[in-house]
Amino acid sequence: MTIQTIKTTPYADQKPGTSGLRKRVTVYQQPNYVENYIQAIFDSLEGFAGQTLVIGGDGRFYNDVAIQKAIRIAAANGFGKVLVGQGGLLSTPAASNVIRHYKAFGGLVLSASHNPGGPEGDFGIKYNIGNGGPAPEKITDAVFARTKVIDTYKTLDTPDIDLGSIGTQEIGDMVVEVIDPVKDYATLMEQLFDFGAIRELFASGFRMTFDAMHAVTGPYAHAILEGMLGAPKGTVINGTPSPSFNDGHPDPNLVYCKEMYDLLMTPTGPNFGAASDGDGDRNLIIGKNRFVTPSDSLALLAANAHLAPGYKGGIAGIARSMPTSAAADRVAEKLGIEMHETPTGWKFFGNLLDAGRVTICGEESAGTGSNHVREKDGLWAVLLWLNILAVRKQSVDEIVREHWATYGRNYYTRHDYEEVDSAIANALVDDLRGRLAGLPGQVLQGLEVAYADDFTYHDPVDGSTSAKQGVRVGFKDGSRIVVRLSGTGTVGATLRVYLERYEPADGQHDLETQAALEPLIKLTESLAGIKARTGRSEPSVIT
Ligand code: G6P
Ligand code: ZN
Repeated sequence: MTIQTIKTTPYADQKPGTSGLRKRVTVYQQPNYVENYIQAIFDSLEGFAGQTLVIGGDGRFYNDVAIQKAIRIAAANGFGKVLVGQGGLLSTPAASNVIRHYKAFGGLVLSASHNPGGPEGDFGIKYNIGNGGPAPEKITDAVFARTKVIDTYKTLDTPDIDLGSIGTQEIGDMVVEVIDPVKDYATLMEQLFDFGAIRELFASGFRMTFDAMHAVTGPYAHAILEGMLGAPKGTVINGTPSPSFNDGHPDPNLVYCKEMYDLLMTPTGPNFGAASDGDGDRNLIIGKNRFVTPSDSLALLAANAHLAPGYKGGIAGIARSMPTSAAADRVAEKLGIEMHETPTGWKFFGNLLDAGRVTICGEESAGTGSNHVREKDGLWAVLLWLNILAVRKQSVDEIVREHWATYGRNYYTRHDYEEVDSAIANALVDDLRGRLAGLPGQVLQGLEVAYADDFTYHDPVDGSTSAKQGVRVGFKDGSRIVVRLSGTGTVGATLRVYLERYEPADGQHDLETQAALEPLIKLTESLAGIKARTGRSEPSVIT
């Protein structure tokens, strides 16, 4: 088989963001756009000759086209084997597990996560390293540098690989093995959780709804919840992956899962509701009459993890992204274990997990996971919740209330301003940054500033430093404001404002969140002038 070396010219915009390179499908459809990026990834790696590469995606529009390109480029570059999910599907956590389980060199995860799909939607490519986690900045920086100068890529002139049937094929000197995308993942979940107890829970009449949002978790949820755990058929809704997510927005939040939320708030509704996003790494958890914020969910899962067999020996530590609320910190303190605060992006947890310093990680952006893989994991969070509910024999609401009565409650919200002009958004953050030094000690609307900085992360494992990760202003009473620009948007800038206020264990736990945070919302406006600068009268999304 002759390897073809094709001439190409660089694209200037192939800078990986928080989670790989996410762009509009139309951008990806430009000549050699995919080829350049994948070749740039391989050019930035060493030592993969003859090794295994995992490839899978969330099934969105263009997944099939990009996978065939990726397989050919991998073969032409000298990989020995590609493991690919049947139909091109692998949820992000399942891909992470396959990389680890089969000791692959790395993997390509084809997804734009929770962003809409279809010809007008988004697509994405992310490279994961041999530990199963997203490549660290050292690699993504090298990839970006390479994309700016790339002038050739390697490929083969071969017909498409048949991804429909499980088994082995050959392309050039490389083997392509099409694998069941669910099997290894389901086995791992069975090892971590008390499936017997969860089966009994369902047998006793407990009812849940899992919304797969027409995305990748459908096959996983059908097999695990309805198959292995005996939940009634119909427990999983929207369970067939569709390239456009049925023209929906596969983001499991209260906007896009409003119907399920309303169902959980009615007396006749199920006991438990959950959902996952486009690529299966995010989760939404709602109990009857109780929505659980991702920050609270992290704290609750960490506090109760020992009830699941996979964590019965206790957890080594917890990590959360900086904008995530400090609820988990109180759990770590009580357990006497390590607590780490990292920048936004799952890749920052990798070193801590590899070093055994933390077991459970989470982010305010609906991500929770553990050391079982190196990605956040939507179904894992759902199963850990089910395991806890099965053992504690209490409702979600009771468990959440007991938690607050023990640790106090961190009222928390995030206000997003989407598609803001990039120059305006950058100037807003820069100006705020410039005023930070003068803030400590000042009293703003009755609250005394304890600290004000732009978060810099010092990785305690490899000593690397990541600066400018978000402006934070903390107050003496434990309240906090964080302002940062999203690293995952595809159009303009998304300004994120995260607000948090602590209410002690014996305090008021039943306030409405936005009302509880109103003074901080006002304070942020006076500090940053978001409305005046962006011309927006209110956030585009409130979570
Ligand atoms: C993705 C990443 C997460 C991150 C989230 C929000 O889901 O995997 O790690 O927290 O995006 O990131 P952003 O930069 O948009 O706030
Ligand atoms: Zn995702």
